[in-house]
Amino acid sequence: MSEKLTITALNENGEGVAHKDGQPVLVPFTLPGEEISADLVPAGKHAFRAQDVAWLTESLDRAVPPCPYFGVCGGCGLQHMNDTAYTQFKKAQVEKAFQKFKLDTSCLEDVHKVPPGHRRRINFRAVKEGGTVSLGFHQRRSHKVTNIDHCLLLLPSLNALIHPLKEVLNTVLKDQEKAHIFLTTVKEGMDALFVFSEGHVLNATVKSLLTDWAKEHGVVRVLLQAQKKEELLYQHKTPHVAFGGHDALFPVQAFLQPSEAGEQQIWAWVEQHLPKRTKYIADLFCGLGTFTFPLSEHGAVDGFEGHHKAVQYLNLSADQQRTKHPVQGTQRDLFLYPLSPNELNAYDMVFLDPPRAGASNQVKKIAKSTVPFVVMVSCSKDSFARDAAHLLEGGYKMDKTYLLDQFVWSPHLELISFFSRP
Ligand SMILES: C[S@@+](CC[C@H](N)C(=O)[O-])C[C@H]1O[C@@H](n2cnc3c(N)ncnc32)[C@H](O)[C@@H]1O
Repeated sequence: MSEKLTITALNENGEGVAHKDGQPVLVPFTLPGEEISADLVPAGKHAFRAQDVAWLTESLDRAVPPCPYFGVCGGCGLQHMNDTAYTQFKKAQVEKAFQKFKLDTSCLEDVHKVPPGHRRRINFRAVKEGGTVSLGFHQRRSHKVTNIDHCLLLLPSLNALIHPLKEVLNTVLKDQEKAHIFLTTVKEGMDALFVFSEGHVLNATVKSLLTDWAKEHGVVRVLLQAQKKEELLYQHKTPHVAFGGHDALFPVQAFLQPSEAGEQQIWAWVEQHLPKRTKYIADLFCGLGTFTFPLSEHGAVDGFEGHHKAVQYLNLSADQQRTKHPVQGTQRDLFLYPLSPNELNAYDMVFLDPPRAGASNQVKKIAKSTVPFVVMVSCSKDSFARDAAHLLEGGYKMDKTYLLDQFVWSPHLELISFFSRP
């Protein structure tokens, strides 16, 4: 039997929340104040999930979702909010995380949006069923693939490959076979990795079809992974990405900021806040050198990173480039072996950009150091707030914190913040 409910709040994923007999009911794609009727199914012991939702009243904050796959495709969850409600929701999530750690929210800037259509790397899912390939992203709460022709988030060069990909996979996959296709836009064209499901046989015909496909569509490198083995199928040119005017070598599937526009915006803010004189800089969790290379315009940079290949490529790129100041990458697990206060004291600036888990151990060491200036970039408001609180306990002052919306229509934001010793 369907229930009538009123949405009272949004959870941190942007799903509407109502209540039934004191227990929360999650109602995706609804907004506070909206009245709905829906069937309720249990979601765990003490909550419900609404399905077959019908709207009885609609919020003024509602917008028409621009994507035809919205609601089915699991990729974007927040297209039903108008622009003001959307940015307010995203900023409010950061404010909540700050309040949890008693951080002053007055340093938070307004959300800066990277417009859709700029995403440069993507992981498509494909499956062949009934003689046809579906290609796109997983549906919400399901492993089914939503078949798409176009994604509003992606660069035109990525969208242009959707149809050709379906065509080639239609020949390469047998019925019920699945594949992941990782695509990255690099300076020379497109870089592709095909990961085939268990049991897939990469015979000569498949390889020849994929090589011809790559040549025809400007794909400069193709790697194949099947039966847990990876092989380089085709390489026409060596793939590079540009980091602040420096060409860096790109190993397949390596971490890259989602868009060049987002990466440039982060750097613009960092450059605006850099101290006048920086001689020695530590770039922690440096990846391939996204910020190591631009930082090397301002001082000698030691990059630390856990991923062996990333460090290897960073050092190769540094050898092939003329950087104004020296760049040196070192492999180090910064969760297990963070730089000690003594090591940190050699630097007059630390830049850190950890993964979602944050950098608790490393930040506690920074808090005990005398490093005068720290930049922290993070894609998780929660680990950022926790780690920022450690820095403040250690006597740092938090300056402006920028909020970059480079994960458009998702609940996530990138935070970029500056800390100095008074
Ligand atoms: C958010 S990415 C940032 C990379 C780089 N700064 C960039 O913007 O491209 C986080 C990086 O942390 C690295 N990483 C993850 N866990 C690590 C650990 N325990 N120790 C050192 N690096 C780690 C990842 O390999 C990844 O390169």
